[in-house]
Amino acid sequence: MAIGVTATQALARAARLRKSLQHHSHQYYALDAPEISDAEFDVLLRELAALEEDFPELRTPDSPTQRIGGVVQERFAKVTHPVPMLSLGNAFGPADLGAWQERMNRLLPAETALHYVAEPKIDGLTVVLHYEEGRFVLGATRGDGRVGENITENLRRVREVPHQLAGRAPRRLVVRGEVYMAAEDFALFNAGQAERGEKVYANPRNFAAGSLRQLDSRVTAARPLRLWAYQIVAAEGLALDSQWAALDALRAFGFPVSAESQRLASLEEVVARCAAFGELRAELPFATDGLVVKVDSFALQERLGAVGNAPRWAIAYKYPSEEVVTKLLGIGVNVGRTGVLKPWAELEPCEIGGVTVSSATLHNEDYIRDRDIRVGDRVVVKRAGEVIPQVLRSLPELREGRTRRFQMPTHCPACGEKAVRIEEEVDIFCVDAACPAQLVRLVEYFVSRTAMDIEGFGIKQAELFTARNLVTDVADIFSLSAADLEPLEGYKEKRVQNLLRAIESAKRRPFARLLTALGIHGIGTVVAETVVAHFPSIEEIAAATTETLEAVDGIGPKLAQNLVDWFASGQNRAVVEKLRLAGVRLAAEAGVAPTGGHLSGLVFVITGTLPTLSRDQAAALVREAGGKVTGSVSKKTDYLIAGESAGSKLSKAEKLAIPILDEEGLRKLLS
Ligand code: IVH
Repeated sequence: MAIGVTATQALARAARLRKSLQHHSHQYYALDAPEISDAEFDVLLRELAALEEDFPELRTPDSPTQRIGGVVQERFAKVTHPVPMLSLGNAFGPADLGAWQERMNRLLPAETALHYVAEPKIDGLTVVLHYEEGRFVLGATRGDGRVGENITENLRRVREVPHQLAGRAPRRLVVRGEVYMAAEDFALFNAGQAERGEKVYANPRNFAAGSLRQLDSRVTAARPLRLWAYQIVAAEGLALDSQWAALDALRAFGFPVSAESQRLASLEEVVARCAAFGELRAELPFATDGLVVKVDSFALQERLGAVGNAPRWAIAYKYPSEEVVTKLLGIGVNVGRTGVLKPWAELEPCEIGGVTVSSATLHNEDYIRDRDIRVGDRVVVKRAGEVIPQVLRSLPELREGRTRRFQMPTHCPACGEKAVRIEEEVDIFCVDAACPAQLVRLVEYFVSRTAMDIEGFGIKQAELFTARNLVTDVADIFSLSAADLEPLEGYKEKRVQNLLRAIESAKRRPFARLLTALGIHGIGTVVAETVVAHFPSIEEIAAATTETLEAVDGIGPKLAQNLVDWFASGQNRAVVEKLRLAGVRLAAEAGVAPTGGHLSGLVFVITGTLPTLSRDQAAALVREAGGKVTGSVSKKTDYLIAGESAGSKLSKAEKLAIPILDEEGLRKLLS
């Protein structure tokens, strides 16, 4: 909790949080249209709970921390649950689990041994199924936890819901479970929809929820819904003494029970299982956001009872989210090497995945406008592929005081020239070729590891040399002399010699690197290699037309146009001439295709965001080992290296049954 909050501030903040939580509860439970993730909801709820702990007078009976949440919709008949459905407290790590066990131990006789059952927490729609003499007679949604909706007819159309219990059925049985849609079924259903030209759905959970609440149960029948059963709420004529026995009984009655559920003999085993499940979770065929850990013995469950609206004997173990809510302190605008004006977020420092984040990308003007992100807002920040932080969205309902919509500057913040929005591009550009900020970025990129790889030359040098007019374009780098550098502070003879030697050796870099280094829009390492493979000298590229360029696999109309435009500029051609005079390699060496490395002869495609390497770095490693990297997946591709948010290349590779590796797989292959 923030330190030094006054009671008045806390009151205002609590009211705002309550309003926001109520809104999101309604979106989630009543409308099946959540606007924020469960993790974000938890962040808000925890902030409110912490405030109420510090200022107990703030706690109102209708506070979201005190209620089970959600409301009942009017369309279906209401069903009062025989036992109200409680919520679960959360644990976010081993320490929380330890504290949970301690709380229980305080209420139990000394030396009570606790055994646990850990089950996947399935992200679906909770249902309550009633059986009489073995026959399914009533099915309801969770609703607000006390009263749900009668959706019996729809549940009859869910294949995994038994109509008749197997074996000797008790007189009455009430079971809780989760109706969900498996990831694969969801993808198949969507593919079918797309083929028929019909609506494609975004999220399996919401789609499952919507499917269950159709007024026409024939619609439900056409949806591939499944069930996991996990709790017996009431049973007449059935003696059970533990959760583990209940799961066995459910299986015997014919309910699907997750094979990932485990009985564990100590909290150490629970902690280990939570860690292991975290690794496994992403590969499961259904969505789960954690584990529900329960005390196994029913006698102990009863003794422990509930506090507020959560049982003491169960807890939801959730995995730390890579999304964090923080405050947007300001929006700055940088000038990129292509002149693009890039808005970025100045954030109240926050921790994401163990790293302190104080700035994040905001992509472009449309991105900010579409999400109505304003300075002063609480914003949700994520580290994309654990590398570049980005602002996902704002939480406008938490706005305090007056805020204004963000306006992109009309002029370049570096050179003051008018900035323009190029047709069909979302970005705004400074088109002043002499813009100092662009030059700094371009030089920084030119000398970087991905490009000409000049050691001892980075952003500092780029800023210094351009400010002193020693470098007015990238070609000037190669005419830097000892006489230029020695007068500069900190540039002693040795340092100067090292830097000049590094610059000299960069002249012999492979031609594709030089082409990459020029910073032509869209021409990164992989495309540059492709271009050079077909146009092996700078003269040939300069002479190419959009038609001849587009004829090359991997070069689309946009890239072709960018290349033609670049070489059409007199200024750029002058830079090329200066590079030639300086002795920089401007053509591919004949027969230099790397041979020997243990990946030689293998063709790779790299896509998506890898956890630690940039795509260019990954490509460089592959090439160093003799492999070839291309830009598009075809039958000739041997491996696809896929990171987060991999798109069409991944699906194409799957279709062609090309082996797919993640970064770790690539590293193994390289080693
Ligand atoms: S037991 C009193 N077990 O998670 C304990 N709940 O926050 C009742 N859920 O909507 C819950 N998988 O329906 C339990 N294996 C599981 C579960 C599970 C998903 C849902 C539950 C409720 C929410 C509790």
